[in-house]
This record gives sequence, C-alpha cells and structure tokens, in this order.
Amino acid sequence: MFFSDDFIQKVREQNNIVEIISEHTNLTRKGQSYWGICPFHNEKTPSFSVREDKQMYYCFGCGAGGNLITFLMEKENLSFPESIVNLAERKNISLEYGENIKPNKKNDIFEIYKMAARFYYFTLKQSKNEKIMKYLEDRGLNREIIKNFGIGYAPPDYNILYRYFKEQGYEDEILVKSGLCQQKTTRIYDRFSNRIMFPIFNPLKKVIAFGGRVIGEGQPKYLNSPETSIFDKSKVLYGLNWARANKHDYYILVEGYMDVIAMHKSGFTQTVASLGTAFTASQAKLLKRYTSKVIIFYDNDVAGCNATLRAIPILRKEEIEVKVLQLEQAKDPDEFIRKHGTEKLQQQLDEAKTDVWFQIEKLQQKYDLNIPEQKIKFLKFVAQIIGNISSTIEQAVYINEIIKIYNIDKNSLEAEIRRIFKNSLEAQAQQNFRDSIELTNKVYSNNKYKVSKPNIFIELLATLYHYRFIYAFISPYINKDLFEEGIYKELFICITNNIENGEEINIDYFVNCYKDIESQKIVSKVLMYEDERYKDINKLNKMINDVVKKINYEDIAKKQKTINNPLEQINLLEYKKVIDRLYIDITNG
Ligand code: UTP
Ligand code: MN
Repeated sequence: MFFSDDFIQKVREQNNIVEIISEHTNLTRKGQSYWGICPFHNEKTPSFSVREDKQMYYCFGCGAGGNLITFLMEKENLSFPESIVNLAERKNISLEYGENIKPNKKNDIFEIYKMAARFYYFTLKQSKNEKIMKYLEDRGLNREIIKNFGIGYAPPDYNILYRYFKEQGYEDEILVKSGLCQQKTTRIYDRFSNRIMFPIFNPLKKVIAFGGRVIGEGQPKYLNSPETSIFDKSKVLYGLNWARANKHDYYILVEGYMDVIAMHKSGFTQTVASLGTAFTASQAKLLKRYTSKVIIFYDNDVAGCNATLRAIPILRKEEIEVKVLQLEQAKDPDEFIRKHGTEKLQQQLDEAKTDVWFQIEKLQQKYDLNIPEQKIKFLKFVAQIIGNISSTIEQAVYINEIIKIYNIDKNSLEAEIRRIFKNSLEAQAQQNFRDSIELTNKVYSNNKYKVSKPNIFIELLATLYHYRFIYAFISPYINKDLFEEGIYKELFICITNNIENGEEINIDYFVNCYKDIESQKIVSKVLMYEDERYKDINKLNKMINDVVKKINYEDIAKKQKTINNPLEQINLLEYKKVIDRLYIDITNG
C-alpha cells in the first residue's frame, strides 16, 4: 500500500463529499440526503443521492455508487493513490506515506515532467534568440499566452535537459523511461531539441507529455512525447484541463495545438483537440463527461473533412449531439480568427450544420443530380446516412426535409431507410451481445468476489443494515455458508456480528479497506439502499421471503449436484421442503 491507513483516513475526514460532488452536479438537500442529476448517466429527474453523514453516493437510476475516492476514480479517471493525492492537495495536507514504501521523487514521472516543463518554460523566458522571438510574435504567442499555456523552448543542444536532471542525481533509466531522453548506442540524447514546447496536461493540470514544434519549416512539424506510463495519447484531449474549468453549452473539437490556443485566446475556452491522431472512442467517452454537444471544427482540407466523417459516428455512439463547422474562407480556426475576428466566428458556430446535413451536402458535391443514375446513387447513400441514425424520430425529421429538397417519394425513401435501419439494428444487437459477453468475462476473471447474484445479496445485506430486527426472523435460514468467499460474505459476517452483540452496525472498515471501485459500489449500495418500497412493511415482508427463498434454492441446487451421500441427500430434500413451506412473517410484533 502506498499511503498509511491513518493518512487515508485523515484525507477522507478533511474533505467533504457534498462539496466535491457539487463541482459536477447541483445538489439539493431533502431530508437526510442531497439529490441531483446523476453525473454518470443521462437523466432529466434526479435519482442521484449523496449522504453527507455517510460520505457516500448512490444513483438509483444507474447503480453508480461509492465514496469520494471512488467518485474521483470514476469521474476523473484517477487511480486510488492519485485520488488520495488529489484530496490531500485540495486541503493542503502534506503527503505521508506508509512505512517502507516512501516513493522516490526521483522515480516519479509526473515530477520529471513538471520539472521539464519548468525547465523549458524558463529557457524560453530567458532566451534572447531573435529568430524565436520573431516567430512567437508572428504566431500571436504573446507573453500572456506563453504564461497561460506554459509554452517553453528546448534549445538546440543535444542533451541539455539530460544534464540538468543528472546534476540533480537522476538515474538514466527513469529519464529514458520518461521519454524525454533517448539512448542511442552509448549516449543519451534529449528527445526535443530546438523546438517550441507545448506542455500537454491531464484534466488535473499535471503535465503528462509535450508537443514540440519546429521553428519555421521542417519535419516533423510537431514531435510529440512517446507513450509512457502516464501518457496514452488516445485518451488525452489537449485543452481539456482549461475547458473543464467552466460549464459550457457545447464543446468545440479542433485539430491541433495552435487551434486550441487561438480559440481560447479569443474566448472560446470550450475548445479541445485530439493530438495528431484520429479522434478515438476513449476521447469521446472523456468528452461525454463534460458535455453532450460537440461542434467539430477541423481544418478546411480533404484530411480535415475525412477526419470529421470518422469522428461523427464515434461521438454519436456516446449519444453526443454533433454539429460541424467547415469554413470556406480560411484553412483552419487560427487563420479564420485572424482574418475575420471573433464575432464572425461566433455567428458561424451558431449556424453550424448538424452532422447529418454536413454528410449529405458533402456527398451531394460528388454527384450531378440532373443525371438520373447519379441521383439514384446519391439518394441511396442518403438513405444509408439516415438509416444509421439510431432514433426513428430523428430519422423522420430528416426524411421530411429531404423529400422536399430533392423532390422524391416519401414511401420509397422510407422503405429504403427501413431496410438499412433493420440491418444496422441487427448489427448493433450483435455487437451489444458481443460486448456484454466480453464484459461478463472481464468481471468474472478479475474479481476476488463472485457477482453471480449480486442483487439478492445486496438486498439482503441492505435490509439487514437498515432494519436490524429482521435478523431474528431470518437467522434460522440464512447463515454465512450461503455466501461465497468475498466481500458479500465479509459484510454479512460483520453486520450480523454487530447485531448479535447488540452493537451499532458499523461497516467503516469496508469503506476504508476495499479500494477498488466495484467493492465500493457494493458498500455504497448497502449503505444507501433505503428503498421507498420497504417503508411499507408488507412489501418488505415479501422481499424478505423472496430473498431468503432464492438464496436457499440456489444453494440447494448447487448441493444437489455435489452431494453423493444418500443420507445427506435426504436431509437436503427435507430442508428443501422446509423452504418450500417457509413463510416468514415480520408484520406482527
Ligand atoms: P497541423 O499541421 O494542422 O498543425 O496539425 P497546427 O496545430 O495547425 O499547427 P501550426 O499552426 O502549423 O503550427 C494538427 C495537429 O496534428 C498534430 C499536432 O497535434 C497538430 O497540432 N501533428 C501535426 C503532429 O503530431 N505531428 C506533425 O508532424 C504534424
Ligand atoms: Mn492546422
């Protein structure tokens, strides 16, 4: 373990879950709980509840749940130790590590990137090189921008950064591992030399990589950091750390560093870029946490257009509403702003086309609609575009416009679309099926506890936790041997021990000691699962009977397969009869 339990406890106690979750959704107090729109799924009415006393959250809609550490793990994509660091930093608590495990700062790649970013930044600040100054000026990179974006300069020396780290006692191995230095035969070189350096930040504003631009012309124009333990470029969006600081109605997706900077400089601070790679599904998932509308604003060239066409379905898969802005009067956002200014750009953004119209219009340019064969081909493709839309309501809206514009028969267009829609639904269903199998395999293969029947066990544990008097009624039929090894069993033992000893039920141990998200989900469900249904004692009674019977029948079925001894078999059958006849009545008394 990285941090001592005492330290984790301290960090937990000094932070407040309501405060942290309020950064992501508005919470309103109702009785003991705070309620809000769930930050983990799309919903209109709040089913997400937070308990300040328990420092836990649970969503009755999607089942997301946990404590403030798992919240950061899920929402900010952090590991457990990163969440602890984040919480400590919020309250200015200095880090304390457990025994024997003090991490060496000189082995910490985050630390190395932070130092390198400072090194490049100050090198630029002190530089008197006129060519560079002129270049920065020409590109509109003034002092303020340089400061805000942390822009730096790697001088034309082959290993100045390497020497800088060596002076401070860093080992070659970690410097090479960081990707900032490279071993070539016997010598070690800096990766970046004579380049303008753009630090790339993660959403928590930690430098995790660089993009280095040649000054003027040269190849490659941008040299990026290699993938490292802290940098996976398919999961990073440049600019997100600044964009997420404020709420925005929509996000703008551009191609590169300079576009992001130009846009932010002009007040479009909701702009982000994927870096020199095609936009990925992971990036779409990341964006979805912050917005449900995106305007794609790529360069005005064939590559930009193709990249737009590829990004559309990826964004749509995350149920993000997509619009596209393609400018005719400039090659990219940077140039457009220089030529036409901010107001013009805002106007263009307001008028951006939906992804569907963008695709149709692009397609139309390839056909001469006065020639019947070409018009047929064109309309077949249009049908395909519409058929791929997952909502039939949305399809209907487009169909009505298309028949007017292209003067075609509604029925035949609809028939064609239905044909395609059905196929794409089938393909989708098959994909969902494959995804679900994959997910199930994953869950089974890497869990220390079985999730075979999570719901009945959670219902049982949660009702015991909230209505301890039930234990007396069910204890003849439920015992720890009915649980498989793992967190359900341990929770059961803990709760029933507390009840048997007449103590207050206390499962803090689980809150503190199970550090994975799945376990915390289970713990939070137990803590938060005060389902309205069970306020009605008759419903609670029915639920208890169902759960007790189900758990026993499953156990009996399992034993029937394994027991060979005839006497044991008879006993088991007798017990089964008991369960068949069982009716627990908690309503009298
Ligand atoms: P662009 O060539 O459009 O760069 O590539 P840009 O951001 O507009 O930069 P300037 O204005 O010419 O300086 C778009 C993005 O593709 C990646 C970079 O992330 C760049 O911002 N790229 C481009 C590379 O990674 N390597 C390259 O050699 C070129
Ligand atoms: Mn560009």
